[in-house]
This record gives sequence, structure tokens and C-alpha cells, in this order.
Amino acid sequence: MGRIKIKDLLNATEFGQEVTVKGWVKTFRNNQFIAINDGSTINNIQAVVDFTTTDEALLKRITTGAAVSVTGELVESLGKGQRVEIKVRELEILGDSDPEKFPLQPKKHSLEFLREIAHLRFRTSTFNAVFKVRHALAFAVHKFFNDRGFVYMHTPIVTGSDAEGAGEMFRVTTLDLDNIPRNEDGSINFKEDFFGKSTNLTVSGQLEGELAAMAFGEIYTFGPTFRAENSNTTRHLAEFWMIEPEMAFYDLNDNMNLAEDLLKYLIRYALDNCSDELEFLKARLLEEEKQKPQNERSDLDLIAKLNFCLENSFERLTYTEAINILKNSKPNQKKQFKYLIENWGADLQSEHERYLVEKHFKKPVILTDYPAEIKAFYMRQNEVDAEGRKTVRAMDILFPGIGEIVGGSQREERLELLEQRMREMHIPVEEMSWFLDTRRFGSAPHAGFGLGFERLVLFVTGMTNIRDVIPFPRTPKNAEF
Ligand code: 4AD
Ligand code: MG
Repeated sequence: MGRIKIKDLLNATEFGQEVTVKGWVKTFRNNQFIAINDGSTINNIQAVVDFTTTDEALLKRITTGAAVSVTGELVESLGKGQRVEIKVRELEILGDSDPEKFPLQPKKHSLEFLREIAHLRFRTSTFNAVFKVRHALAFAVHKFFNDRGFVYMHTPIVTGSDAEGAGEMFRVTTLDLDNIPRNEDGSINFKEDFFGKSTNLTVSGQLEGELAAMAFGEIYTFGPTFRAENSNTTRHLAEFWMIEPEMAFYDLNDNMNLAEDLLKYLIRYALDNCSDELEFLKARLLEEEKQKPQNERSDLDLIAKLNFCLENSFERLTYTEAINILKNSKPNQKKQFKYLIENWGADLQSEHERYLVEKHFKKPVILTDYPAEIKAFYMRQNEVDAEGRKTVRAMDILFPGIGEIVGGSQREERLELLEQRMREMHIPVEEMSWFLDTRRFGSAPHAGFGLGFERLVLFVTGMTNIRDVIPFPRTPKNAEF
């Protein structure tokens, strides 16, 4: 008789059959009831041992964290909380877990503590649920794009370019840091480095994605990206995963429609395929919010919040309209914002984004047409307006509790205007000649965006710290495991 996964057993209706499960002990109560989990589901199966006939020494080895194999009859459970259980005939300890040393005890641990033992936190129900949802969402990303004929493009991780032009890159080098080769003028001689030039980890696959979009029409990337920004917040990682679709012949409206469809599809997919996990996470969040004062608790529970997102269209407005709302808002008038909105051109901080989403519109918001000054070089330039303001065809999607979840734009497809903008922003035009070739040969209107995968997982799971939705977070001063 082979091993059966607990997920399948919990749905079984054929009582009396002999079954074998293998998993890890979550709890062992009354010298009788073992709760076993094998990761196939967030739920445990109960195995009941007869302590009168089981060797004392074996019973002692049934401890939280131990790996066990259990064989016995599947019976209807008389106890509360489960429908089926296993009447143990044979029990084998596959791997002991010293209860004095195993850090996970059958009690509630803080998320901070679990972060320090990230190598073991997969074994908790919370992280079982979070990473199952993460998996489902990753799968759904591929399904969404594949069903629409998009080509999955693997863009390089090591690159010489800074796609965002923000200079937040991790250098990649094999040079001997104790003996750096120098040019005559004292600068580093990268000709001696592995690639014969200065290289870094990618901050975005977009530029290479654009090259592919100008041949395949519609592509997407889904890979790790790296940012050496010193932001120690609950929304930033130094290593995060990004989904970047890029589409020829799309304008900004097409781009926004695709992004909204994608987000709704992914949320719907999680609701349809992760109901056990989301029910668990909903209860976890309610419990967590009990610690907060009434006015800081959410109006909607996790699942209601996800459904709300599906049922409402995202509010679309320009940056200029948003600035007017923010200028006249209560927290701005009463000087409650940390960064007061005084002038057009101000970069929006997360407090402003959250005001718009959570207080003003009370739903997801798409802001468009940002000042050129605060956006990347590749965004399509609008006509200068009557007041002399320069804006670009950018769009950011802002989500409740998250802030910016998507950033994108229509691209500048006009060679002269793009080159001019690059020079203004000190982007090395000559080195980027390969990128500009798309504008030299068969240039076409196109657009794309980047969805921060962890920010999406944060939203769907209701977790509050981005370090808790990626298995091994990398943040300033932290690269454990
Ligand atoms: O707005 P960003 O910087 O845009 C780009 O990288 C473009 N190249 C995307 C494109 O048009 N193809 O980043 C896109 C998204 C953000 O909206 C956010 O969700 C996420 O990536 N993001 C981060 N997530 C976690 N940690 C960080 N440090 C992040 N920086 C950006
Ligand atoms: Mg952005």
C-alpha cells in the first residue's frame, strides 16, 4: 500500500480501508492523538495510537517536528474538528525531533521570530498557506499570458544596463577587491573584469522585453530583479520577482486594461483555487487586527476585500487631478502628511497614495500622466500643456494597504525624442544603441508595465510585511539562508 497524501485522505469517503501517510507531527495530545501534516494541505490528519499496546519508548519519540510514517485503518472520526482519522496499526519514526531543541512549539509564534528561523517557518500553518497562495499566483500568471498568446521571455539577470536609470544596482564582478586593476586616470579597469565591462544584477527586464515585443508582438517576463535601494520598509525587498508584459501596438489605455484584467484574474484564481488557505489567512488577519484600535481595523475581511476588488472598476485619473485632490485633502490642510503637497511636480509618497486609495476613492486607483521629471527616460512624452507642464504617458496602479503595485507606461517610440530625453537624464546613449535600434528599424507604438509579485502576494494573503511572502527575504543588512 503506497503513501496517500493527506489532502486526498481528508476528502476520502471509503472508510475501513488501510492507508499510509507520511508527514511531520504538529501536536501529540493525551498520549493518543497525533496531528500530522505533510504539506499537501493546510489541514492535518489525526492519527490515533493505542497507548496501551504501544511501546513507551516509541510514544516518547512522537514529538512536534518529528517525521513519521503511519499505517492504519481510515475511520470516521467521533471527535470534533475532523471528519476522518486513522486508527494506527503501525507507526515508524522516520526522523526524530528533540523537543528541547526544536524551535517551533505548538503555540503561536510571532512573525518576527519566525523570520529569524525562516528555514523552519514553512512548517507553520501560516507559511504553508502563504506559500501555497504564492505558488498558485505564479502558476496563474503563466496561465493568464499563455491563454492570451503572450510569449514568456527570459531576460538576462546579469546586464550592463540600468533599465530604470536610477543607479540602484548591485555590481557583479570577479575582480580581486584587494587588488583592483586601475586605468592611468585611477578609474577601475573593467576590461580586466569577467565580462570585460562593468556589470550588475538587473533592476528590470523591460528593455530586453521591448526588443522581443518588437518581434513577437506580446511578451512577458517573470523573474527575479534586484534593487540596491536602502529602503527598510514593509514594502521593499532588495531581491524581488517582477512580471513585465510588453506589447507592440498598445497605447496607455490598452496597457491599463490589460493590467486591470491581469490583477482581477489573479485574485479570482486565488479565490477559486486557494479557499482553505484564504479562509485560514482571513481568520489569522482578524485575530491580528484584534490587537489594533477599532479605527485602524479594516472594514472588510480578507475575502470580502478580494471580492470587492473584483467587483469594482479601478478609478482612473491623472496625476494632476490627484494632486488637486491631495492639496485640498484634510490631512494636507491639517498638516498631517509627513510630506505636504504644495506644488504640482511633487513625487507622491506612500501616505499620499494610501490616502487616495483608502480614504478618498476607497478602491484601487490608476494614476496616469505623471510629470516627466519624476519618471524614467523611456516613457512617452505628452504635448507640453497650456501651463507649460511636461508629462509622460505613465501609469501606476495603487492598491489598498499596499500603495504602488504596478508601474508602467506607453513607451517613447520616436527616436529623436527618446535620444533627447536620454541625454537630458544622463543615460549613456551610445552604450544603449542596441535598445535604440528598435526605434531605428520598424519602430511602433508599444507599452508595458511591471507588477511586483511580492506586493501582489501581500495583498492576496493579507500579510503585512513583504518579508513574510518571499521564502528568504533579502533586505539591507540581511541575506541569511
Ligand atoms: O515601478 P517600477 O520600478 O517599474 C519598473 O521596473 C518598470 N521597468 C516596469 C515596466 O514598465 N516594465 O517597478 C514595478 C513594480 C512596482 O510597482 C512594485 O510593485 C515592484 O515592481 N517593486 C518592488 N517590489 C518589492 N521591492 C522593491 N524594492 C520594489 N521596487 C519595485
Ligand atoms: Mg514605480
